[in-house]
Amino acid sequence: MSRIAVLTSGGDAPGMNAAVRAVVRKCVCEGIEILGVERGFSGLVNREISVMNVGSVADVIHRGGTMLKTARCEDFYDYGVQEEAANYLRELNIHGLVVIGGDGSYRGAWALREWGINTVGLPGTIDNDLPLSDTTIGFDTALNTVTGAINNLRDTATSHERVYVLEVMGKDTGNLALMAGLAGGAETILVPEVEFNLEEVCRRLFRGMKRGKSHSIILVAEGAASAIEVGKEIKNRTGMETRVTILGHLQRGGVPTAFDRILASRMGARAVDLLKEGTGGGAVCMCGSELVFKSFEEIFSSPLSFDHRAYELAGILSI
Ligand code: F6P
Repeated sequence: MSRIAVLTSGGDAPGMNAAVRAVVRKCVCEGIEILGVERGFSGLVNREISVMNVGSVADVIHRGGTMLKTARCEDFYDYGVQEEAANYLRELNIHGLVVIGGDGSYRGAWALREWGINTVGLPGTIDNDLPLSDTTIGFDTALNTVTGAINNLRDTATSHERVYVLEVMGKDTGNLALMAGLAGGAETILVPEVEFNLEEVCRRLFRGMKRGKSHSIILVAEGAASAIEVGKEIKNRTGMETRVTILGHLQRGGVPTAFDRILASRMGARAVDLLKEGTGGGAVCMCGSELVFKSFEEIFSSPLSFDHRAYELAGILSI
């Protein structure tokens, strides 16, 4: 393995730069030539690729976003496009590719493996929605951003004695909303993994009021419901003054936390080790405190995890 390429794909996540840096610098140390592909799989299609060196990744470890840019490339679901991309990599004598991204990016990496290019995925998404990995690069930063937003909302919620509804990203999962709700002490957390009933949400609000609570924070995972609709319903059913905040892409940017930088650095270096020894067709996963390699087959045949015990705990603690 004398030439490896790296790309970031799908939604950017804080810590992706630290992962790219680790891949590049580990390659340099191992005497492997490293190339960066811009704009994810689109960059393979459009041949946007260039050689990287130690200096290319200087001064990026603390920056959010991704220096390689990213894109969502629908064309890459096409077999002809995949084959062309694989042939292009072979032309360049690149036989190993590190793909940093989420579910869709893993599928692209898996496809390239089928076309003969060894690929290793690194979990890069704020959603923490990749099976078999306890966490993903970017999740911790987003979690802290959302928790900070809850802190800010709480200041104004207590001052005005209102109900605040906060919509949080997470695609089809509620992991980000759950953990932020637990960390921020939200009164109610609505997630796609747990059926909810707005009547019960309102009952909880009244119960809280009865015992002297004058404000409440309700977290809504984007995959569970629309915060705007939830806010309207709560106001209609309870008459309580309600305000809605959609955090949106604010929660995707920002300076990566130390946790995300360390995770990304470890994972990036491991990806290079794996490709060097000829292992691929899977991703680096965080399992407890260990990094383990899992094949894409295993990953895609495993269920998404959701911590129901943490969800129950959040409910208990916010009585
Ligand atoms: O997967 C990351 C994510 O931020 C999701 O939480 C969200 O649903 C989606 O990407 C938003 O995508 P886009 O930036 O393309 O609007």
